[in-house]
Amino acid sequence: MQPAKRGIAEMAPLRLLVLGTGGMANTHAMNFSTVPEVKLVGAVDVDLAKVRAFAARHDIPETFTSLDEAIAWGEFDAVTNVTPDRIHHPTTLQLIAAGKHVMCEKPLAETYAKAAEMADAAEQAGVVNMVNLTYRNVAQVQKARQMVLAGEIGRVRHIEASYLQSWLVSKAWGDWSTESQWLWRLSTSHGSNGVLGDVGIHILDFAGYGAATDISSVFARMKTFEKAPGNRIGEYNLDANDSFTMTAEFSNGAIGVIHASRWATGHLNELRLRVHGDKGALEVIHRPDASKLRACREQDVELAVWREVEVDPVATNYQKFVAAIAEGKNQEPTFRHAANLQKVLDLAMVTEKERREISV
Ligand SMILES: NC(=O)c1ccc[n+]([C@@H]2O[C@H](COP(=O)([O-])OP(=O)(O)OC[C@H]3O[C@@H](n4cnc5c(N)ncnc54)[C@H](O)[C@@H]3O)[C@@H](O)[C@H]2O)c1
Repeated sequence: MQPAKRGIAEMAPLRLLVLGTGGMANTHAMNFSTVPEVKLVGAVDVDLAKVRAFAARHDIPETFTSLDEAIAWGEFDAVTNVTPDRIHHPTTLQLIAAGKHVMCEKPLAETYAKAAEMADAAEQAGVVNMVNLTYRNVAQVQKARQMVLAGEIGRVRHIEASYLQSWLVSKAWGDWSTESQWLWRLSTSHGSNGVLGDVGIHILDFAGYGAATDISSVFARMKTFEKAPGNRIGEYNLDANDSFTMTAEFSNGAIGVIHASRWATGHLNELRLRVHGDKGALEVIHRPDASKLRACREQDVELAVWREVEVDPVATNYQKFVAAIAEGKNQEPTFRHAANLQKVLDLAMVTEKERREISV
């Protein structure tokens, strides 16, 4: 079922509720408040002090300490779900049942089965749904995809993608050993699939989107390093993976490697994609301070000369979500796309156990 069209011209402001008011919710509030058609009308967090401080910071009139209370109030059209990973599934299903449009943080859910259930429910209800795969906002990766699709590097043969973070060896973002926002990310019983589930979904999307292809088979290894006595801190059993490496075959026939780590000393948050074709090659590097797209094409192939490619600005996921509601038509990345990526992540975990490659 298609979402109903709202019509942007005659439209009253889109009333948006923020669900979960931790670290990332600030990025959502700041971005949505720059979209003229949006009004932030309410915020929900199980932590009363947090939701009140958040509402004051972003000038949001209503606060709630449970989603049930917010749904009973009902004065909102859409929600941005910025709760921890394991909370996405139950709360998003509740919101879809209430007929609300939902942007949900990544990963959509902890498993493919749950993510597919969310995609089915959103499609059946005809609500707009989007997953915040943030790195779609990087203009350079969008340009890389266009260049691949236009045949500028020929047939793609080899793909190399990495996502490097160092928050286990640096306090640049806070102290992981004392702050719950990092500890839940290290514990499977708190709903985390480790670095694979957390940023694996980003780098799989970055690689597949930028190289304009999908993963068709996968083999992965992952490792959990000792971080505290008995790998436990308080209620947190630190058993989720910290580093993964993956070899993949793609539907366009290429092979490649994808890897990510929270132990990548010297890199706060860096995504890198290299796509090599039989006529040329592309490289995208995205860091917090800058993004770059370089290409080696045509006569430059002979001497391996690389040149920077200029790019135009692109719409963000936040802007696309609002436009999708106005137009009554979903835009990527949808729940279905995120569910399909989650399937690859689930299979990657099976390959680690069984030590064999699996077709997607
Ligand atoms: N797209 C990105 O680049 C990006 C970056 C960072 C985080 N994230 C994702 O955003 C989500 C939140 O991450 P974070 O860093 O903000 O975590 P966080 O722990 O800082 O914040 C989560 C908040 O949700 C609240 N919460 C927990 N259960 C709730 C419930 N049932 N109802 C309402 N509120 C509830 C917590 O009290 C907390 O304030 C995660 O899924 C994470 O993977 C995405």
